[in-house]
Order: sequence, then C-alpha cells, then structure tokens
Amino acid sequence: EKGGYEHFMLKEIFEQPKSVHDTMRGRLLVDEGIIKMAGIWDHVEKFKNANRIIIIACGTSWHAGLIGEYLIEEYARIPVEVEYASEFRYRNPIITDKDVVIAISQSGETADTMAALKLAKEKGAFIYGICNVVDSSIARITDAGSYTHAGPEIGVASTKAFTAQLTILSLIALKLGKHNGNLGNAEFMSLIAELNALPKKIEEVLSTTHELTQSIAKDFVNATNFLYLGRGYNYPAALEGALKLKEISYIHAEGYPAAEMKHGPIALIDENMPIVIIAPKKGHYDKIVSNVQEIKARRGKIIAVVNKGDQQVSEMADYVIEIPETSECFSPIIASVPLQLLAYYIAVYRGANVDQPRNLAKSVTVE
Ligand code: M6R
Repeated sequence: EKGGYEHFMLKEIFEQPKSVHDTMRGRLLVDEGIIKMAGIWDHVEKFKNANRIIIIACGTSWHAGLIGEYLIEEYARIPVEVEYASEFRYRNPIITDKDVVIAISQSGETADTMAALKLAKEKGAFIYGICNVVDSSIARITDAGSYTHAGPEIGVASTKAFTAQLTILSLIALKLGKHNGNLGNAEFMSLIAELNALPKKIEEVLSTTHELTQSIAKDFVNATNFLYLGRGYNYPAALEGALKLKEISYIHAEGYPAAEMKHGPIALIDENMPIVIIAPKKGHYDKIVSNVQEIKARRGKIIAVVNKGDQQVSEMADYVIEIPETSECFSPIIASVPLQLLAYYIAVYRGANVDQPRNLAKSVTVE
C-alpha cells in the first residue's frame, strides 16, 4: 500500500505532481480561460461584498492560510486575516454577517477549527471549508466549500495536502480577482498558464532534488537547531519547512520572515547553525541577498533554495538546491517540495518513526 516507498510520507511527497493536478482537474480550464468552482461561484456575491475574509486553521493548514492571505489580498484585493483556530475561538472575536470565514483542514476533524467555525456560524458569518477528507465534520457544517482532492494522506506530517491547499487558495484568489475586476485578463491568463504548469515543475523538482536532499541531510543528522528564512510568499513556506523538520526529526527549528532575523534570531547564528533560506528570483531577491551576506559574515551554514542558474546567493551558500522558476505567488508550491524531502531524510537518518512521530496524531480531535 506504500507503493514501493519506505514510508507513506515519501510516497505522498512523490504524489504531488498528481495531487496538484487532481486539485485543478475540472476547475482550471486553461484553453477557455476559466476557473470553474461551484462553491465560490454560487456564493460569489458573499465574497465580493465581504467586509473581510477570516481564514482559520491549525498547523500546516494555518501556514497555507497565510499564503492564502497574500494571494487573496494581492489578486482579489479583499482584506484577509488569518488566525489560529484555537486563539480565535477563545478571544471573543468580532464577527458579523458581512464576514466570510474560511476554514482550512486536511482531516476536516480538527476540534479547534470545528469549534471556531461553529462560533463564526452562530454570529452569522458565511462559512466556507477547504478540506481534503470528503464528508468530514467540517465539510458538513460549512455553508459551501472546495475539496482539495489530494487523496488520502496517511503520514502524520502533512505534505501533499499542503500543496493542494495552496492550489485551491490560488484558484480562489484568481477567480475572485477576475470576477471583481482587480485582476486584468492578460495577467489572469498568464497566471493560470503558470498554475497549469505546476505539476510538471513539481515532477522536475522531485527528480532533480531527491538525491541532493538526501546527501545534504547526511551532513545535518546531528544538528540540534535549524533556522528557516523566507520573505513574502515564502515566509510561510519557511514556517512550514521548520514545522516539517521539528515534527518528524525532533530537531528544534524555527521559521522567520528573513528581515526579522536582525530583530533577534541573528544572535543565534554561528558556524553551528544551519539556515535554510528560500530565495527564488521573483520575490525580494535583492533583500534576500543582503540577508545571506549577514549570515555568511557570521559563518552560519547556508542551505539555499534558489532558481536554476542563480549566482549571487549560490556563491555564498554552502549547499544549493535549484528549483524551476514560476510566478512568485506559486513559488511556495515548488519550494516546499525539497524542504519536505530534506526533513524526511534527516528524520530517516536519525532513525525516527517518520509516519508516526512521537506524541502526534493525524487528526487532532481534542482541543
Ligand atoms: O487536519 P488539519 O489540516 O486540520 O490538521 C491541522 C494540523 O493538526 C496539522 O496540519 C499538523 O500541524 C500536521 N501534523 C503538520 O504536518
């Protein structure tokens, strides 16, 4: 059932060209220049007239939500807030019937997310679900929703569900932006062509980084700490990279927006600190270059995720992972893949139980 892979997690990482494709299937009609999503379309006025969209989720799904905020604000120009479900539900939040609340949950069973949704519903908000598991509790209580169609995810560490969530959020942002006139036709067309190209690019990145991440992992088996840095769309990707590493390898890891480094974490940097930096060309590249210079000056060990042919960051980095170029807004979908592999192999070399990490459950049905 693991399809020849040693763990479900590895199988699921390798399924991503297909799962991202499945998430777009029947929705993204590139030739017609259309995104079809009944859940959105049937309620498009709710979205269009919303005061704001509040995204609630936990863990990896919350990271997807942060990227969703960037996407929806950039392309649909609707204000978005992202909250941990557990914080939202206990702080007497201000919710009105002009709010749209989107819950993101792979399992559709997360207790805090479910309770936060119930609260939002009671206060009159329109509630929308982005779930992977069909007919799950969250999928059932929401007014409408879009399934991610990533297929069953067995590994406790979420991988293909995350990239599928990003795919759905991209579709929603572009659809809303096109509908409300904030996204012009030419840009819309070029973005959907990029979306359509993602499965192939994920396939490419899997084949070019699989052995590489394995060999990098060998050098960090005994690391005790890691920093992950990214800017813009790749700041949440850095958070997600760090979460993957800590949950399966039990190495302490923290993700940060790269510019926040100088507000504290830079004090941690010495020759023993590995730092994963996500630095694609489109996405504040010059700023990232100066962050890398600051790390280099303190002799941190730099593992850089860059676009093919990159020079400036690559020259300074100790390890270089090249990924194909895409639009900035979709770059986390590609950049996350080698970070999943890196976390996976570090955990495997440490002898950890990758699919069933200690203390964790696949769905957290208690608060
Ligand atoms: O099923 P959900 O998406 O609601 O789960 C949320 C988190 O519990 C989940 O993403 C968790 O953080 C994963 N183990 C991360 O890999």
